[in-house]
Amino acid sequence: MPPPRTGRGLLWLGLVLSSVCVALGSETQADSTTDGLNVLLIIVDDLRPSLGCYGDKLVRSPNIDQLASHSLLFQNAFAQQAVCAPSRVSFLTGRRPDTTRLYDFNSYWRVHAGNFSTIPQYFKENGYMTMSVGKVFHPGISSNHTDDSPYSWSFPPYHPSSEKYENTKTCRGPDGELHANLLCPVDVLDVPEGTLPDKQSTEQAIQLLEKMKTSASPFFLAVGYHKPHIPFRYPKEFQKLYPLENITLAPDPEVPDGLPPVAYNPWMDIRQREDVQALNISVPYGPIPVDFQKIRQSYFASVSYLDTQVGRLLSTLDDLQLANSTIIAFTSDHGRQSMDLVELVSLFPTLAGLAGLQVPPRCPVPSFHVELCREGKNLLKHFRFRDLEEDPYLPGNPRELIAYSQYPRPADIPQWNSDKPSLKDIKIMGYSIRTIDYRYTVWVGFNPDEFLANFSDIHAGELYFVDSDPLQDHNMYNDSQGGDLFQLLMP
Ligand SMILES: *[C@@H]1O[C@H](CO)[C@@H](O)[C@H](O)[C@H]1NC(C)=O
Ligand SMILES: *[C@@H]1O[C@H](CO)[C@@H](O)[C@H](O)[C@H]1NC(C)=O
Ligand SMILES: *[C@@H]1O[C@H](CO)[C@@H](O)[C@H](O)[C@H]1NC(C)=O
Ligand SMILES: *[C@@H]1O[C@H](CO)[C@@H](O)[C@H](O)[C@H]1NC(C)=O
Ligand SMILES: *[C@@H]1O[C@H](CO)[C@@H](O)[C@H](O)[C@H]1NC(C)=O
Repeated sequence: MPPPRTGRGLLWLGLVLSSVCVALGSETQADSTTDGLNVLLIIVDDLRPSLGCYGDKLVRSPNIDQLASHSLLFQNAFAQQAVCAPSRVSFLTGRRPDTTRLYDFNSYWRVHAGNFSTIPQYFKENGYMTMSVGKVFHPGISSNHTDDSPYSWSFPPYHPSSEKYENTKTCRGPDGELHANLLCPVDVLDVPEGTLPDKQSTEQAIQLLEKMKTSASPFFLAVGYHKPHIPFRYPKEFQKLYPLENITLAPDPEVPDGLPPVAYNPWMDIRQREDVQALNISVPYGPIPVDFQKIRQSYFASVSYLDTQVGRLLSTLDDLQLANSTIIAFTSDHGRQSMDLVELVSLFPTLAGLAGLQVPPRCPVPSFHVELCREGKNLLKHFRFRDLEEDPYLPGNPRELIAYSQYPRPADIPQWNSDKPSLKDIKIMGYSIRTIDYRYTVWVGFNPDEFLANFSDIHAGELYFVDSDPLQDHNMYNDSQGGDLFQLLMP
């Protein structure tokens, strides 16, 4: 995401898990009075904490900020792998990528790894009406071309019809012609079907909420928004919120000296867009021309557009008087961090607990044969409920908290498929530990046939201290720091 610079960010594109609970503000006991609460799960694609509620002074996100103002906002929430399909399968099943065995887009966990239950499946089996709108599971093989229906959903998921134009030539360029561009502010009246996917998803979600108003069973509604994922195809009026002269450039545009080449992300996807291709930027390290760094303007405008969609959803909940009986969780599959450290893999047990369902038991190791268990933590304690059972896996001392993530690579040197290698091409796995004080990563040999990482085969390492080096520009790793120690810390 902008600025598309190094791959260091990618490992840390954890996000904003702002788990909110309006009705639960009264601090009653979760296990009795929260029975039958609805759930609205909002999943945003590639959102980093460029939001007012995370202290961003430039970005306009009044609706999300308003939601955050009466929510529990996690300042350090991390995705387990910052790629759409692996990230979503991980948090929706509550298992880490090494358990779902999905690091790319090309397999369905029920066949390939284990028949793991998902969050919506668990709610469905507990009497909920479960519904999917937009991009919740990643479409394609990774959800069996059905968004994991029928297991996860009470009826077939909804996909906006205008989604098919996302990557087509619908962006009017300076030459007056239509292109498939990265930067794509549009006149909505002028695009095919006269609408955009996220607008359609909001409208569908609103209709479903209206139906649910009179439903006897509680609902679990997941709404997946496409923006601010590239291409930045958004109603052009949002550009006006961000005059170019107010857009700052990336604070640290250079590739850091100490960055191991294996950690660098050559952002191949972005290079395929027509407007970026025309810049003829050298692969892999060529800098983005300064005057094209207006990419940031379009990212922020896409965030504000998304924010208005979230606003429409939330005011529908209010209008229908459902807000006091609905748990709202807002999260993303990627994003970069900006108290407590949490992992998206903890969403499953936490939502179950908040809704008053039994929290799935902790997974044994290995857990491929166990359909229902959790690898993450139950974060209920953060919501300040009393009388909850102690969770031995949630230490009280923030210095003991650790978030894990991983990212695969096909080679030590950046190449055409470095940002999204297929399983068979994975030769190296980067494993990161993030604590409140540092980020520590080792890149180790990986055998994709056996799904085995070899911690004595270290290709490179990274160590950054949060306080003295918040942008992670100064790698303090030295080769004496072995993989053995690292392996001891792994979950
Ligand atoms: C997988 O789980 C689903 C949902 O519980 C169940 O219907 C199905 O039979 C299971 N499949 C296998 C192969 O166990
Ligand atoms: C995947 O989808 C196909 C076609 O809809 C279906 O026949 C198959 O049973 C599904 N796989 C699983 C594991 O449910
Ligand atoms: C742009 O920056 C100027 C100077 O800081 C400020 O007065 C103005 O409100 C900003 N415009 C917008 C749309 O944020
Ligand atoms: C693109 O850049 C390369 C060198 O990086 C140069 O050889 C080539 O001529 C350029 N192509 C265009 C169309 O500008
Ligand atoms: C929510 O608010 C509506 C209207 O104010 C009220 O009728 C309803 O009983 C409330 N529900 C809960 C669970 O408090």
